[in-house]
Amino acid sequence: MKRNNLFPQINGILHGGDYNPEQWLDRPDILEEDIRLMKQAGMNSATLGVFSWSTYEPSEGEFHFDWLIRNMDRLYENGIYTILATPSGARPAWLDEKYPEAMRCDERGIRYHHGVRHNHCMTSPIYREKVRIIIRKLYEAVGNHPGLLMWHISNEFGGECFCPLCVKAFQDYLAEKFDHNISILNAAWWTTFWSHTYNSFSQIEPPYANGEFSIMGLNLEWKRFTTWNMTDYMKSEIAVIRSLTPHLPVTTNFMQLYDGLDYRVLAKELDIISWDSYPAFHNDYESFAQTMGRNAFDHAVMRSMKRDKPFMLMESAPGLVNWHSFNKQKRPGVHMLASLQAVALGSDTVQYFQWRKGRGSYEQYHGAVVDHLGRSDTRIFREVEALGQKLSHLDEIKGSLVPARVAMIYDWDTRWAIADMKGLADETKKYDETCIQLYQQFLSLGIDVDVISQEMPLDDYQLVIAPMMYLLKPGTAESLKAFTARGGQLLATYLTGYVDDNQLCFLGGFPGDGLKELFGVISEEIDTLYPSEHNEILMNTETPAIVKDYAEYLRVDSDVEVLGRFKEDYYAGMPAITRHKFGKGNAYYVGARIDMTHMKQLIEEMLSHTDLAPMELPHGIECHHRQAEETLFTFYLNTCDHTQSLYAVYGYDLFSQQEIEGTLSLAPYGVAIIRQ
Ligand code: GLA
Ligand code: ZN
Repeated sequence: MKRNNLFPQINGILHGGDYNPEQWLDRPDILEEDIRLMKQAGMNSATLGVFSWSTYEPSEGEFHFDWLIRNMDRLYENGIYTILATPSGARPAWLDEKYPEAMRCDERGIRYHHGVRHNHCMTSPIYREKVRIIIRKLYEAVGNHPGLLMWHISNEFGGECFCPLCVKAFQDYLAEKFDHNISILNAAWWTTFWSHTYNSFSQIEPPYANGEFSIMGLNLEWKRFTTWNMTDYMKSEIAVIRSLTPHLPVTTNFMQLYDGLDYRVLAKELDIISWDSYPAFHNDYESFAQTMGRNAFDHAVMRSMKRDKPFMLMESAPGLVNWHSFNKQKRPGVHMLASLQAVALGSDTVQYFQWRKGRGSYEQYHGAVVDHLGRSDTRIFREVEALGQKLSHLDEIKGSLVPARVAMIYDWDTRWAIADMKGLADETKKYDETCIQLYQQFLSLGIDVDVISQEMPLDDYQLVIAPMMYLLKPGTAESLKAFTARGGQLLATYLTGYVDDNQLCFLGGFPGDGLKELFGVISEEIDTLYPSEHNEILMNTETPAIVKDYAEYLRVDSDVEVLGRFKEDYYAGMPAITRHKFGKGNAYYVGARIDMTHMKQLIEEMLSHTDLAPMELPHGIECHHRQAEETLFTFYLNTCDHTQSLYAVYGYDLFSQQEIEGTLSLAPYGVAIIRQ
């Protein structure tokens, strides 16, 4: 795999974080101390200006950038590069006062008051223009600064706007999408139901909380529109930036699996993917290894949006956060482990929110590298410093990629459609959770998995898993057929292929769009189980598989192999798990939600038809790979608070700087990177 080094200027892995000098302009002593401490902590980057608008432009048309220039100069003189944000994540009071259209309207159409952040109207022409002006001014001030590394667009895009401008934009978007022909829309949305036929696009309203929410096609299209509109807004910022500094990359920071925007649409407009990771470490509802596994899934989602380059861990908390329901401190050693997990999964940066704790307001207790105490001998500072040391030695990792040969299809449209469908059970649909649990089975076998959309090409994969793929986009069925025919191993589950991309049910049997030929099954019914109920599936394993939540009543073609049958209920004896030879490959169908132990056995069975070798990893060990040209780096992460030993490990350990000849011992939360 060809190395793709994003930041050749930086030695080692980029280490930085959000830095807010504007909050300390009356304390030059602290700003000077920041530089000293950043160097001590091994920071080579700082993200400036995320929320600096009211300092840049305290009143309309009056600009102050001297403080920014001063700070960028001092940072650069000390080897610290600047990632410069555009300040559109929060607006100065004067702006909202003078141009109220910049403020969003809520889901009842009521205008918000000024305040908080991440809440501008995406459509407002005035707001877009105000942002373009400040970006141009920023460029004039520091656009050619040698310390300027890249642009960070706004901050954590999210939310919806139901203002009149956005409603009009929605109607125009629909007219465009449905060929300016309302009959096409009516047919696609099945609006004859409850007499909801529209006469014109101007009658269509967004799904207001006190309005129309009974048309599944409308609900879905509103989500797509919000993504489209946010992307369009983002593009209006990017266009100015690219015209001014075409050589500098742009990113915007995503928020985990944020449901409100299809990140893959935004991703196409960005040069680099970056995201903010805040797992609930040490919680009381799952094991620490599971929390890490969840985080690994998030990393894989982000990485897979641009498979030809590393991504950025734009934010993480050095200690605790302030917005979880329980804000627990990371235990000693966990900061190192979690940061290196990001690198193991393909990140070329480790960055924080935030460098220094502010004294007041909403985030005064949010963790930071530098505490109110203001010293460098705190536990957290020392852990950050130790990590900084390690990251500076990882230059050879930079630009390497994750050579995944397994993919999981996980899709925003499917998420939205499953959440919105009326049917099944309110609390047990669990699409995300199901995907994450399945991902964790591969994790426990040491197999890296890309997490991709239905549209992404499958050429690089030997095994594809498509859990609960309820909504099928045009082309998906064809792509899965081609993948299997050429020798791929494919697995789908209950709730596959019920609706098309307007949420209209396929006729003639689920899974639709030709998938029933691929799997050789038709799901005639789906049964919902109460949480207290379960069923079993008798398979070729020591124990039967346990079924919870959902079970399908399947018709099976004669050339389909039945791998498991239901034990109880009116579908006792009926097929539940099947395998169908299709071309050179196999299409597996799992018609019920089964326990993960048996799911893992099925995955192992599938892997036996590939040339991928599952590993026998002790519980709590993660193993990931990055590759650059011929060199393979294998990361071993110990997510346990006790020492673990691994055998049959050979190669050079980048951290201990020793040749490993068989036995690798990993300290509690320890990490090794073995070069082969
Ligand atoms: C987000 C934001 C930051 C900060 C952190 C706190 O990621 O981007 O500005 O509020 O959350 O965890
Ligand atoms: Zn709006």
